[in-house]
Amino acid sequence: MRRDKLRERLLRYQRESRFLVKDSNDMKVIEEVFDKPTLLALYELLKKGAIVGLNGVVRAGKEARVYWGVGPDKIARAVKIYLAASMQFRRRVRYIAGYHRFGRIPSSSRGLINLWVQKEFKNLRLAHDAGVRVPRPHDYNENILIMEYIGSPPAPAPTFAEAEVDNLDLEWTIEAVRKLYRKAELVHADLSEFNIFKHEGERVLFDMGSAVSTSHPEAKQFLRRDLFNMVHFFKKRGIPSEAPEVLLGEVTG
Ligand SMILES: Nc1ncnc2c1ncn2[C@@H]1O[C@H](COP(=O)(O)OP(=O)(O)OP(=O)(O)O)[C@@H](O)[C@H]1O
Ligand SMILES: [Mg+2]
Repeated sequence: MRRDKLRERLLRYQRESRFLVKDSNDMKVIEEVFDKPTLLALYELLKKGAIVGLNGVVRAGKEARVYWGVGPDKIARAVKIYLAASMQFRRRVRYIAGYHRFGRIPSSSRGLINLWVQKEFKNLRLAHDAGVRVPRPHDYNENILIMEYIGSPPAPAPTFAEAEVDNLDLEWTIEAVRKLYRKAELVHADLSEFNIFKHEGERVLFDMGSAVSTSHPEAKQFLRRDLFNMVHFFKKRGIPSEAPEVLLGEVTG
């Protein structure tokens, strides 16, 4: 579909429904951020009712932007959109190997990004089903992931990096890593104080795109690094823990 045609359809959709892009200024912003395939993917998610509106940006990173969206139940959603222009994605192949067992690794960065989003969605679902507290995954399409919003929009919840932490947070983290390993058979592989929310007395593990199966050849190495990161963080905050190697044994059993 041509860009102007898509724009027209989005505008029509906006008039006919409660799509929250209100004026042409917002539309301009949208055009700056989204390329045609992204607009189309977004349009499809709107059409099927996965979201009914999109508010402002929550966090604009180098490779992904997170938006405050609205679900059909009127409850906030986090809409994570990976930027196709980001060329840094090649280094992520290491975390996709083994996941895409029957297909080949896509050669285009767009293909790689879409596969990443699919993997992130599935990882969230596996973790959620195993009883690990993560943002509940709702839907995905191409480079767009829709999940439960953690925080009080427009503000995202603070992460461990921005919050007061105590010994209970350390215990929760090790238990989450253990459950993830034993029940979901996953290793987060990008675990740090920046990827755990602390919100209204609850902790929420997130950013699961890099998580790999425990059968991944580098799973143990990733797990060791995850534990090391957390031990290091808590130590900096004056909270001692067992050595990473001891924790590794506890997690893997
Ligand atoms: N489910 C969510 N609810 C609310 N805010 C979220 C959610 N997911 C992500 N965010 C916000 O977006 C930020 C980045 O998200 P995330 O860590 O998943 O992406 P990332 O790929 O690591 O991006 P970056 O490298 O830019 O941090 C988070 O720190 C948080 O502020
Ligand atoms: Mg992150």
